[in-house]
Amino acid sequence: MSRARVGVLISGRGSNMAALVEAAKAPDYPGEIALVLANVPEAGGLAFAAANNIAVETVDHRRFTERANFDAELDACLRRHRIEFVCLAGFMRLLTAGFVEAWRDRMVNIHPSLLPAYPGLDTHKRALADGVKIAGCTVHYVRAKMDTGPAIAQAAVPVLPDDSEQSLAARVLAAEHKLYPHALRLALGAAPAAQAAPGVLFNPPL
Ligand code: GRF
Repeated sequence: MSRARVGVLISGRGSNMAALVEAAKAPDYPGEIALVLANVPEAGGLAFAAANNIAVETVDHRRFTERANFDAELDACLRRHRIEFVCLAGFMRLLTAGFVEAWRDRMVNIHPSLLPAYPGLDTHKRALADGVKIAGCTVHYVRAKMDTGPAIAQAAVPVLPDDSEQSLAARVLAAEHKLYPHALRLALGAAPAAQAAPGVLFNPPL
């Protein structure tokens, strides 16, 4: 089986990246994590990736005044490592439309809400303020507008009466770690990718 070369973009602790790395150790997994790329040298996840013998790179966004130049450097790095598919995993930079188009249907993101509800930051805080009873996470194809794009898979978790932002975030994060490997498997198995976006609803056993 030929496995797609996957690059994971991170900005921080990288727990979703770690979940992808662990899942991709299975011999039948359709992708191999071939690169972990961070936009900040301090990103905690880089050490985990290196310890797992994965190539790591940093493209520090602070070196660039223009977003397009930063994105061009990201793109060059991905191509140098012969990356075929990109996973955003807690990557905290907005990407230019040109970069997004270059990777159209070959780039996915995970977001800690049931999109299209609560795009952007502070999702859990806003969900709690609204009194919603079901929260969750979404893996979706990336489009130019942040946190939009066809959903590949979603996981739902309950919001409990005494939840804090932290306790809800932890419950959603545990679901994210199951959802992302599942969704990547779907995305890599779906051919042609451009027509994929089956909008599968996935409720992982928690
Ligand atoms: C996750 O909640 C992800 O959904 C969001 O940022 C967080 C990243 O966490 N986009 P980690 O770096 O994967 O631990």
